[in-house]
Amino acid sequence: MKEVFRVAIDGPSGAGKSTIAKSVAKKLNIDYIDTGAMYRAVGYKMNREGIPFEECDQLKSMLDATDIDFVSGDIILDGEIVNNLIRTSEVSQLASKCSALPMVREKLVEIQRGMGARKSVIMDGRDICTNVLKDAEYKFFLTASAEERAERRHKELIEKGEVITFEEVLRDIENRDHNDMTRALNPLRKAEDATEIDSTGMNIEQVTEAILKEIK
Ligand code: DC
Repeated sequence: MKEVFRVAIDGPSGAGKSTIAKSVAKKLNIDYIDTGAMYRAVGYKMNREGIPFEECDQLKSMLDATDIDFVSGDIILDGEIVNNLIRTSEVSQLASKCSALPMVREKLVEIQRGMGARKSVIMDGRDICTNVLKDAEYKFFLTASAEERAERRHKELIEKGEVITFEEVLRDIENRDHNDMTRALNPLRKAEDATEIDSTGMNIEQVTEAILKEIK
């Protein structure tokens, strides 16, 4: 194995990318970068500050004044830990909306490339294999059926105390799949050189092992 290497994982919402990426990062002792959390943080901030979800001067100034980083697994937005604030179903939709804006993508992709430049990382998102880390040593496309993804997400949200039905979560997931796959800029798609893993019916250990097998 090379001393510094990058692992890129793309896939639709709820496919288990972050759970798997965290588990692989731990096994390989490398940093994990959750790019979805970065779009969530921007969507959350735009909403909080009343910035319109379109390309405008206000958005540009806000992005110029935005700082996003990961410290010990926490996502820090302008000095504040926002882990829990960005994990609501409302922020999921805001993240999907803001991720279609070129200004937002340009800013976040630049930060992400910087994070993956000098050390070994595992990064997950929608455009990591196809755009952010095109030259990553290891690439994966992780998917699962929409129903299974909705079931997983529904369980997570209920555990956190949100009042939401399975049907609503399934609709949200299908809505986001559509937005993420049809946006003009860097839409979600499997890179030609990525290994596809369909995790329907698989548990965390099985998916982690499938990835580690390709890397070692
Ligand atoms: O993985 P997630 O559900 O936390 O991502 C939130 C949203 O961010 C998702 O709807 C699509 C967008 N996203 C993106 O466009 N590009 C990425 N690399 C990661 C996420």
